[in-house]
Amino acid sequence: VRRIVALVSGGDFAGAGAALKELRVTGNRFGLEVYFVRHGFLGLANNWIEKVSEQDTRMLGSRPSSPIGSSRFEDFKDEQVQRAAVRHLEPFLRDGALVVLGGDGSLRGARAIYETFGVQVVGIPGTIDNNLAGTTSLGFHSAIRLADQSIESLKATSSAMGSVFFVEVMGAGSGHLALACAYQARAEGVLVNEHPDPDAYIDEVILGTLKRSLGVPNKSHLFLVAERTPHRHHPEGGVHGLPEFVAREVAGWPQVRPHDGHYPLTPATKATILGHTLRGAPPTPEDKAIAQHLAYETIRRLVERPADVVGCMLAYRDQAAVEAIPLHALAPKPFDWELFMRMHGRERE
Ligand code: F6P
Repeated sequence: VRRIVALVSGGDFAGAGAALKELRVTGNRFGLEVYFVRHGFLGLANNWIEKVSEQDTRMLGSRPSSPIGSSRFEDFKDEQVQRAAVRHLEPFLRDGALVVLGGDGSLRGARAIYETFGVQVVGIPGTIDNNLAGTTSLGFHSAIRLADQSIESLKATSSAMGSVFFVEVMGAGSGHLALACAYQARAEGVLVNEHPDPDAYIDEVILGTLKRSLGVPNKSHLFLVAERTPHRHHPEGGVHGLPEFVAREVAGWPQVRPHDGHYPLTPATKATILGHTLRGAPPTPEDKAIAQHLAYETIRRLVERPADVVGCMLAYRDQAAVEAIPLHALAPKPFDWELFMRMHGRERE
């Protein structure tokens, strides 16, 4: 391998800058030319490919999001569009590889051009959703840290005012991010897509918890919600409709009395959507380290034993172990029910 071309695709995430910097540094050290594509597969289809020098990657390692842009490019599912993009890659890839940083959709795109056109591809997992099995994805830890700051602020105001907060985070149908945020911040609960009956969870866990805790001095009341989790209170699901529903329910409950050790506050019920803010989170040291590790291994393996990594995503496991998983074997990460049950003070049956 004499050259690599790298791009970031799909929803942006922290750690992309650190990975790109490491690809450039280690790539050059191994004698490779390094190229970046602006704005992911859209940029590839438009030939937005640039050679990268030392100067271009100064201070890149600590930048949030993707310093070379990213894109959602639905047209890339079309084989004709893929063919045009691959044509732009040809001069670089006669003796080189394409490195794709992104989540499941982006790695599906990578797999398509590997299998259909034989492009030498390596994937690096990056998505705040952290929904790829067998790996930690770049951006996840940074998203949690930024979310945690907001959640702790909301807990503080909730504790002072006796109010109830529903905090929505992204997840694209998965609840890994919501669960991690809820666990870390000791939230009262977490509503996720994976739950077999979100309506029952709202009635039993959310209302049940509030019945016990509203009015308790200094108690905060905060629930994490994964985006678009369906429930009967709003067609869009997620946090939508929950504050109104809970306010109506609470209004019908008997007033607590001060001598019960509770204060008879009527709680305000609020929704906060953290949404895209977490995609632009500053990278944590952990994300930067994982990014550098995966990027370094990408280059080293491409140079030393390309057959072991081409057509694979490099997965990051604990203790810095890196494993190559074939792109065709990528699967959704199973939901961590153990942690979910522990958070709710129950053992798994
Ligand atoms: O895949 C990453 C993600 O952040 C998802 O969690 C979310 O559903 C989606 O992107 C939102 O994407 P958009 O940028 O199109 O709003």
